[in-house]
Amino acid sequence: MKIALIGYGKMGKEIRALAESRGHTIPLIIDVDNREDLTPESLKQADVAVEFTNPDAALQNIEACFDARVPVVSGTTGWTDKMDEVRKRCEEEKQAFFYASNYSLGVNILFHINRVLADIMNRYPGYEIMMEETHHVQKLDSPSGTAITLAEDILQRIDRKKKWVNRMTKRDDELSVISYRRDKVPGIHTVRYNSEMDTLTLTHSAKSRKGFALGAVMAAEFIVGKTGCFGMKDLLNL
Ligand SMILES: NC(=O)c1ccc[n+]([C@@H]2O[C@H](COP(=O)([O-])OP(=O)(O)OC[C@H]3O[C@@H](n4cnc5c(N)ncnc54)[C@H](OP(=O)(O)O)[C@@H]3O)[C@@H](O)[C@H]2O)c1
Repeated sequence: MKIALIGYGKMGKEIRALAESRGHTIPLIIDVDNREDLTPESLKQADVAVEFTNPDAALQNIEACFDARVPVVSGTTGWTDKMDEVRKRCEEEKQAFFYASNYSLGVNILFHINRVLADIMNRYPGYEIMMEETHHVQKLDSPSGTAITLAEDILQRIDRKKKWVNRMTKRDDELSVISYRRDKVPGIHTVRYNSEMDTLTLTHSAKSRKGFALGAVMAAEFIVGKTGCFGMKDLLNL
């Protein structure tokens, strides 16, 4: 398969190595210094594009792939307030779009367990809930896209929580999501239920970016030849 890379930072480089190790080729690499090369003509050299850039650039990049009718996998976080717009265009024009706030297999298993646990804990109001996420100091958005997914899944299931806030809170109807930025940490996410009697903790800790790259390349392999909007639930059958 031919994969165009949009964004050639830490993730773009990992994805290139992973994709080549699985026998794919990379006919096009777009980064900030050659943005003008992102045209329908250049994109059409590829079977699929994989986009890991920054929150201000993601929407424009995805639209460029739609303009070229090239399937697109995006992993950029911090722009998902525009997701409805993208999904609408994807459905209307029968394009192919794959999005995950976190491409790691372990995190997607954590998402699943988080939903199951929240359904159970809704019956036990004696447990206070809080979340923490820790990432490297260059991360632009906060809280992380993964933390937002975890928090929103909790809000949908725990009646006593109405919204998440990115700070410590004492309000019973708010869910604290605390962000830490430290050194080169690839990503740690924790959900904690604490009662007077005990503490129940779910934690996922990424060891490197390789797991994200593998998921993104698997997503690229998955959407070629399909139309519609997809996510990790479709890929992993969770
Ligand atoms: N979904 C997941 O599993 C997952 C995992 C890890 C990271 N992420 C997300 O993926 C994104 C990238 O992460 P990263 O660690 O690779 O960051 P990074 O090292 O900063 O890489 C981003 C790259 O995109 C470039 N870029 C910026 N604007 C662009 C544009 N308009 N067109 C093309 N390239 C552009 C940046 O160039 P400059 O540095 O020169 O601006 C940089 O080379 C972030 O949003 C991060 O949160 C997602």
